Amino acid sequence: MAPPVRRRRDGETAPKPPEIASVLAGRALVRGRLQPVEIAIDPDGRIQSVGRTRPGGPRRDVGEAVILPAATDLHVHLREPGGPTDAETIPTGTVGAALGGIALVAEMPNTEPPVTDADRLAEKAARVRGRAAVDVLLYASPTDPRALDRLARTAGGFKLFLAPTTGIERPPLPEEVAPLLRRLAEHDLPVAVHAEDPRQFPPDARARDPVGWNSARPPAAESAALALLSGAPDRLRLHVAHVTTAASVDRLRREGRSFEVTPMHLLLSDRSGNDAQYKVNPPLRPEAERHALWDAFRRGEVPCVASDHAPHSAAAKELPFDRAPSGMPGVETMLPLLLARVRAGELSLDVLVRAACDRPARWLGQPMGRLAPGHRANLMVVDFRAREPLSARRLHAPCGWTAYEGWEAIRPREVWKDGEPIVQDGQYVGRPSGTVVRPEYAPGRAAG
Ligand code: NCD
Ligand code: ZN
Ligand code: ZN
Repeated sequence: MAPPVRRRRDGETAPKPPEIASVLAGRALVRGRLQPVEIAIDPDGRIQSVGRTRPGGPRRDVGEAVILPAATDLHVHLREPGGPTDAETIPTGTVGAALGGIALVAEMPNTEPPVTDADRLAEKAARVRGRAAVDVLLYASPTDPRALDRLARTAGGFKLFLAPTTGIERPPLPEEVAPLLRRLAEHDLPVAVHAEDPRQFPPDARARDPVGWNSARPPAAESAALALLSGAPDRLRLHVAHVTTAASVDRLRREGRSFEVTPMHLLLSDRSGNDAQYKVNPPLRPEAERHALWDAFRRGEVPCVASDHAPHSAAAKELPFDRAPSGMPGVETMLPLLLARVRAGELSLDVLVRAACDRPARWLGQPMGRLAPGHRANLMVVDFRAREPLSARRLHAPCGWTAYEGWEAIRPREVWKDGEPIVQDGQYVGRPSGTVVRPEYAPGRAAG
């Protein structure tokens, strides 16, 4: 229907249409189907409308390429402070994120020293300013309950490690967990948990390869940790990190919890490789378990996917298996690997966008992750014809290795942050405009 014509009296001015800074035109998912759209972006970098727009103003037409919301990575380790810098830094890790289609990363507190109080948090925030290519939300990990209230005023979220892992030697005792969760629930911040119960680790286990590592930190440790968490107060914004089994997925779905799986547990098994590059916490699981997790993910039963980007230097990973650190890089390769699975017809684009873009942003209370008016114009442009094999030489990460050497990938052609391109033709063209963000609103209990 045409808009009603309004006659103007002399001297009366027509109301000004809202200003548009630019228009991005291409194909996008609308109600689950790819359709041509025009996205109007307003001068403060927010999406103004999705659909047809008026002509005029700068316009970029990406043709047959697909416009998606940029992703939020709920789980990265950028290794500052404490390094080592040949593993990662805030500048290198956030450029890697940008190249991988991610406009917001949530940075973990297991640094050296760890982020346990408000002063250390302020110190980390100062390291982000002027050095980060994308926005950063900072987790804190209080060890002294007295530090908690002050920390809650500046932290973006809390992280709780229930088992030893990089930088964490003494996790809380099992009997300390319930009181800690009650204290954390007094604040309205997201709380991510590394859920393994070390009482289930066989004491004499000596792992020499990923198969042995899976026995040393078995799936039973994950289910025991989930049992510990099932008594968490309802109002706690709990999110379980790096879930590895289909049984855990079923349980957390029944309980209505937010949780994530990682590309490593979706794509790699304990027989993908023998060396310490494949040593991660929780361990890679046997192929049948990996397959079941992938099926649950593909069916849309997993709310979030996150990289658990945990780089270590190549030299550290060349140590004998039992002495090498756990963790592998992934922030730059997560979406490229999964977009290639979409192209191969093994994963629906809609499922991927919800898990990588929409729900993680909601979980962290951020107005991004959907092509919706009012959301930040954090976007990516993907050309599904542009398949290429991954190669560590072409990745930005200083650690210089990837467990996915030669795997098929589709890297975003463009990435936009707040209405400005920061990646063009697959190259980083941005400036360090990333800021420290905190949740702007509290989502429902289960993230979407
Ligand atoms: C992580 C790291 O290296 O910081 N390692 C890992 O194997 N995932 C720590 C963690 O997430 O547990
Ligand atoms: Zn962890
Ligand atoms: Zn981690």
